[in-house]
Amino acid sequence: MKDLRRVRIADLLKDSASYVGKEVDVKGWVRSRRGNKYVQFVALNDGSTINNLQIVFDLAKFSDEELKPITTGSSIHVQGLLVESQGKGQTVEVQAEKLEIYGTANPEEYPLQKKGHSLEFLREIAHLRPRTNTFGAVFRVRAALAYAIHKFFTEKGFYYFHTPLITASDCEGAGAMFQVTTLPLNELPKKEDGTIDYNEDFFGKQAALTVSGQLEGELGATSLGAIYTFGPTFRAENSNTPRHLSEFWMIEPEIAFADITENMDIAEEFIKYCINYALDNCKDDILFLQEHFDKDLVERLKFVVENDFVRLPYSEGIKILEESGKKFEFPVYWGVDLASEHERYLVEEHFKRPVILTDYPKEIKAFYMKLNDDGKTVRAMDVLFPKIGEIIGGSEREASYEKLSKRIEEQGLDGMEWYLDTRKFGTVPHSGFGLGFERLVLFVTGMQNIRDVIPFPRYPKNCEY
Ligand code: 4AD
Ligand code: MG
Repeated sequence: MKDLRRVRIADLLKDSASYVGKEVDVKGWVRSRRGNKYVQFVALNDGSTINNLQIVFDLAKFSDEELKPITTGSSIHVQGLLVESQGKGQTVEVQAEKLEIYGTANPEEYPLQKKGHSLEFLREIAHLRPRTNTFGAVFRVRAALAYAIHKFFTEKGFYYFHTPLITASDCEGAGAMFQVTTLPLNELPKKEDGTIDYNEDFFGKQAALTVSGQLEGELGATSLGAIYTFGPTFRAENSNTPRHLSEFWMIEPEIAFADITENMDIAEEFIKYCINYALDNCKDDILFLQEHFDKDLVERLKFVVENDFVRLPYSEGIKILEESGKKFEFPVYWGVDLASEHERYLVEEHFKRPVILTDYPKEIKAFYMKLNDDGKTVRAMDVLFPKIGEIIGGSEREASYEKLSKRIEEQGLDGMEWYLDTRKFGTVPHSGFGLGFERLVLFVTGMQNIRDVIPFPRYPKNCEY
């Protein structure tokens, strides 16, 4: 091999005119090989783009024996001249001069052969699926969206604030926490009254993985002004649906001095920014996903960024659902926690655009939301999306010490003094929301199942890798 510097296939294809006529050095995994006894064509992919680079092996230069290890999934290093391609399907190709085999992939064993595989099958080999076109596209889009999120908030003056993953408080009060303990589960230390003695546990108290960074995020917002979190959250709900994960990533901005209207404005601007970023920067991947999985994908993405979201109080949403004449699986009445079918009816059939539903009954929302003057509803705001249902949940926060401590007491939550201090000392109106990252990736990629947009999905009865 000559002393050349490797070029990523994405960079080479983006700027191919400047490489034509030059010797290039490329490395990657073989997607396929075909040809005849004079010439062999290899489709090479290095993960930097959905597009493969065609490598041409002239059998006058390379023997059958030398090329034998080049099978789907093998990894190779090639040097050669980049030329304009005569064939269809690519603009340039490499005329191979030097070949180094890094690793073979026995075709009898390698599960990803050229033929398309079902997403269900690929979920069972999640350790290899990033090597497929589909998952390469999904995970590149995912990475681009993560970058867009940091870019959006940083440019807006929000500080990235790190909230703990191990916590002693249940933010959503839903009791869906994974406990973290080092106690011996077979002989738990007990107190006199028979309950478990958590004094003996690692942290000296009961601890769990966080379901949300919000409460600690509020400490950040009421000091730095505006913050966002972006990290994994964990929920032990037994929800086997295409929209729930046990481990998912959430982005939670929290903004001092913002009311619910400003909160909605930011949520709408934010989500449109992310979608636009993906449309601008992940074109090839999105077009690939559109072609293979969702023919309306780009149209739907553009529609969302070009149209205002509807803003509607929950009570009016209920009225629309009741008057729809539609047979829902779950009944609709004032006070019900909306099911995905209800959310999607409002978005997909009634309004035909995203809806921000506000002012939900306090009974079905978390304790920290600001109580409206009617005493019955809270200043919640859920953003509902086509295909997805709820993509964002948020609210204006209860800023009154008295009202908040009353709600905490009603719900029997302990150990919240630190949180109440934000209201005791220099309380301010403030708001925030949480975007489920995988639901955003689901929407942008047009995939159907949330387990296909995170590299290693965690869900009930599944914890591989
Ligand atoms: O509506 P949620 O439960 O709100 C909160 O956790 C608030 N603390 C957010 C805040 O105001 N800072 O969750 C927020 C979002 C949902 O809208 C949904 O997109 C996503 O998180 N989400 C899930 N995503 C995947 N799997 C699950 N099990 C999810 N649960 C919620
Ligand atoms: Mg919610």
